Amino acid sequence: MERRNFVKSVGLITAAAYISPMVLGNDQVTVKASGIEGTPSAEFPKLPYAYNALEPYIDARTMEIHYDKHHRAYYTNFMNAIKGTPLEGMTMAAVFASVSKQPDAVRNNGGGYYNHLFFWNNLITGSAGPSPEFSSAITKAFGSVDKLKEAFNTAAKTRFGSGWAWLYLNTEQNLAVGSTPNQDNPLMDSSLVKGTPLLTLDVWEHAYYLKYQNKRADYIDAFWNVVNWEEVNKRYQQALKG
Ligand SMILES: [Fe+2]
Repeated sequence: MERRNFVKSVGLITAAAYISPMVLGNDQVTVKASGIEGTPSAEFPKLPYAYNALEPYIDARTMEIHYDKHHRAYYTNFMNAIKGTPLEGMTMAAVFASVSKQPDAVRNNGGGYYNHLFFWNNLITGSAGPSPEFSSAITKAFGSVDKLKEAFNTAAKTRFGSGWAWLYLNTEQNLAVGSTPNQDNPLMDSSLVKGTPLLTLDVWEHAYYLKYQNKRADYIDAFWNVVNWEEVNKRYQQALKG
């Protein structure tokens, strides 16, 4: 979202009476295939936890605006962009595989819808960390889990402007880190970073500015406290199977 629209959204929230963090349905909601692995959800997907679930690392107010304003807008605009076109009914992966041939509205809003859904589901509190098997794979690829974090942090910090950092399985089936601009992701045929996404971090200012202001590095450091390693492990196993 453009900066002026972000500021406008923040202004609207500030002007309104603050809504207390609310629990959205069942805290134990799990990721459904629809939306990430499959076709877009028929309805805007629920956040799999309460707005305040990731405090103090990601604050409730940011989560509320991020999910209910930004993500919802991408979802709505994407569904409108594909309505009545051959893209309707296609999986997100299939849409992204030829997105360079589609209008910018499909690329930007489809990426915004998918990336945020992916992001919510790779966050949780109390994760036990990478499984022994996954740790071994990480160590083989990067030297250690800490080295992976260093490489990922560098990708996140050096992404100029808005975008996303990724841990992904590249087309040679190797673990890799990188970043994409705007709402692009590694599934897009137009992306320089290509492969199967495993873990992502939103580094748009709207993801952290209310709590961290210009200190993107602090937000990136805090992110590691709420990574859902079980979900990343699961995606890694699925990606290896192709
Ligand atoms: Fe975002």
